[in-house]
Amino acid sequence: MSYRQASYDEPLIRDMESGTTYELPGETGDAQSAIPEELRRDELRLPGVAEYDVVRHFTRLSQMNYGVDLGFYPLGSCTMKFNPKYADAISSFESFRDSHPLSDQSLVQGNLRIMYELQEYLREISDMDAVSLQPLAGAHGEFTGILIVRKYFEKSGELDRRTEIIVPDSAHGTNPASAAMAGFDVREVPSGDDGTVDVEALRKLVTEKTAAFMITNPNTLGIFEHNIGEIASIFHEKGALLYYDGANFNAILGHTSPGLMGFDIVHFNLHKTFATPHGGGGPGSGPIAVKERLKEFLPVPLVEKSSTGYAFNYDLKSSVGKVSSFYGAFGVLLRAWAYITKNGSDGLMKNSLTAVLNTNYIRARLSGHYSIPFKKEKMHELVLSSSNTGRKALDIAKYILDSGMHPPTVYFPLIVRESMMIEPTETVSKHDLDTYCDLLISGARAGQPELEKHPVSTPVSRIDEVRAARDLKLNWRG
Ligand SMILES: Cc1ncc(COP(=O)(O)O)c(C=O)c1O
Repeated sequence: MSYRQASYDEPLIRDMESGTTYELPGETGDAQSAIPEELRRDELRLPGVAEYDVVRHFTRLSQMNYGVDLGFYPLGSCTMKFNPKYADAISSFESFRDSHPLSDQSLVQGNLRIMYELQEYLREISDMDAVSLQPLAGAHGEFTGILIVRKYFEKSGELDRRTEIIVPDSAHGTNPASAAMAGFDVREVPSGDDGTVDVEALRKLVTEKTAAFMITNPNTLGIFEHNIGEIASIFHEKGALLYYDGANFNAILGHTSPGLMGFDIVHFNLHKTFATPHGGGGPGSGPIAVKERLKEFLPVPLVEKSSTGYAFNYDLKSSVGKVSSFYGAFGVLLRAWAYITKNGSDGLMKNSLTAVLNTNYIRARLSGHYSIPFKKEKMHELVLSSSNTGRKALDIAKYILDSGMHPPTVYFPLIVRESMMIEPTETVSKHDLDTYCDLLISGARAGQPELEKHPVSTPVSRIDEVRAARDLKLNWRG
């Protein structure tokens, strides 16, 4: 398939002017005089743009973008499963879409029932005891979870001395960031030769200062931490807590669980496991689950069921409080509920196995072309290194951009040189897996001058990577 992305010289919407005449309600007449003078504004800096120009502007921008509805998106660690359309359709039902967050609870019993059932599904899947659906992304779930660690030790009177959180050197950047934002010092434990946590080094790091250990299992190298039982005991014997970053849940869904592994707190990345839209500024969701002794610290509200129906419970003794407005991202929660309900336990377990199989298919096809560090079996994702090819991971990624498929994550995890991380999930055909592997193989064989020409089919070609990282501009005011 030849691929060429649309390219428009699209202005910012604030610089657009349709030339249509329009009048804001209240600009003249009674409505304006009803507003006290000190509250009136002389100008409202809205672009004078007609509906048709707004629609065309955003459609053009979407054509210059890439998403799961366009092609394969195997971005390791931050992958997107295809978002099934039945879940979108359900979340668009008028009764869900139009329900007001301030409605009386008696009028939205159906919504509450969905939230309650999702709490129960997540509790069962994780083998934990209580769930809050409040956080709005995986990273938000992490931060909330670490606030719980904080409150827990505040209550036990140990917070003054429990100042450290340990993370592996393969950890996703959000883990140390969440720990630091919640006021802890971050200590890093190295990985051993097999890509799992070096347990002896860990033992030396865990002291009376340790508050918690944050880890994802399988880890970001796609390797299952087989020593997790021993690791849990090391922390629990010192009175510290174990935090499970649930980003890699798809690898183990239904086969084992953080509860069985000894974790105390878990967050779910609904987008990575239950096929919902991602967060990161979008409408995401990252519920958290805890063991019984931590339930009192969860963010409110929880949804409870009684003989008279479903109701919000705001009355948790030591809650960290509210971490989002209203009830979390209800539209996303609804999609996760639909996905779990439709797949059922057999479907979820099968999806997980297919995701692992797909990863190992890629591994088998690419070995011999790329070096694949760490001999251990790979689960849901794998990390390659392009260092054996003499090519930079960045150049191969730019080459792939021209194919209409999304490149791997590059340069993460930091412990592998020229790393390329691929997480295919189960929502990919064998045909697409083969096309992707062929592309990676041809990228490894391409001459350097050929690689440097790419990308040519995207609206933006090579950027100044250093400037983009150091001089980050997040909005148009930049
Ligand atoms: C291992 C890991 N932890 C945490 C996160 C953060 O999750 P989110 O992007 O939903 O904030 C991700 C990203 O998906 C991840 O891969």
